[in-house]
Amino acid sequence: MANITTVPVTKLGIVGAGSVGTSLAYAAIIREAAREIALYDIDATRAEAEGLDLAHGTQFTGASTVTGGGDIEALAGADIIVITAGARQQPGQSRLDLAGANIRILEKLMPQLMEQAPDAVYVLVTNPCDVLTIAAQKISGLPRNRIFCSGTVLDTSRLRWLLAKEAHVLMTSVHATIIGEHGDSEFPVWSNATIGPVPLQDWRVSGRQVFTDEFLAAATDDVVNAAYRVIEGKGATNYAIGLAAVRIVEAVLQAENAVLPVSADLSGTYGISGVALSLPTVVGSGGVYTMLEMPMSEKEHGQLMASAEQLQGELAKLGISS
Ligand SMILES: NC(=O)c1ccc[n+]([C@@H]2O[C@H](COP(=O)([O-])OP(=O)(O)OC[C@H]3O[C@@H](n4cnc5c(N)ncnc54)[C@H](O)[C@@H]3O)[C@@H](O)[C@H]2O)c1
Repeated sequence: MANITTVPVTKLGIVGAGSVGTSLAYAAIIREAAREIALYDIDATRAEAEGLDLAHGTQFTGASTVTGGGDIEALAGADIIVITAGARQQPGQSRLDLAGANIRILEKLMPQLMEQAPDAVYVLVTNPCDVLTIAAQKISGLPRNRIFCSGTVLDTSRLRWLLAKEAHVLMTSVHATIIGEHGDSEFPVWSNATIGPVPLQDWRVSGRQVFTDEFLAAATDDVVNAAYRVIEGKGATNYAIGLAAVRIVEAVLQAENAVLPVSADLSGTYGISGVALSLPTVVGSGGVYTMLEMPMSEKEHGQLMASAEQLQGELAKLGISS
């Protein structure tokens, strides 16, 4: 029998084996996003159990191997690390309320992670993810392209789901994006939204204009408050963010150069620097490439600036200078 040789593998590290980290791992094995998946949590018992439970299902998935545990060395050599560790929103709490506690976790965690995976692309999911992206960038010294957050990838999916249902079309035929803070000041760029090539406002179902101003206002409200609603009912949001994060992992590990609304330090885009917020962004093997300036109305441009100011204010309150 010929010797079995090893080939280069793709490795995904996940920090935090809670609701989000495990949903991400589950989605990653089903979608075959990485050949090797390592789940790490300070709660070693939980991480080991979650790793086993996931591994026991891999007969029915692709060739991914999954491990879980409390030893950070399991993340060694990862190509991409997704951070989900930290406090989560309680009912009624905003994402920004979590900042202080989660920055303290990152101050300890980032140097340890950098030791294990100095060349990895880092994606933050822990909230408030825009603020934490700047904090983690400062703590780690990583270049801005290699540290970013899932931003409004999830929020955009929530929006497209609502629009697709109303338009009676497939979700991937809806082109609409939420940009800005992953939080209360985010907003949809309606002036640019289409279904196929048709502007949203012109879309008709049985001759009726469905996307009225009232509908669009209600949809915006629904998306901005979606997490609060889910958390009220089940204590956490996990499945959709798991899938959204895997989509980002795929873009990096498969060098896709996909345009996704992730959030990174804008570094001059729209004249904004030292603040991370979501814009349509080219994501590939090096992480974040170009953050795109898109056509938008004057009102939307004002909303973007207001979102940046909101985040700038939060960073200043936390003593993180830009
Ligand atoms: N960005 C998004 O779109 C989005 C969506 C959903 C949730 N989230 C955020 O994701 C985070 C995780 O949410 P969750 O529901 O999985 O929480 P959870 O409480 O279920 O899990 C968090 C896990 O982090 C672990 N942890 C804490 N400190 C750690 C450390 N120093 N090292 C390793 N592990 C550590 C805990 O032991 C726990 O298992 C929260 O901040 C939440 O707000 C973000």
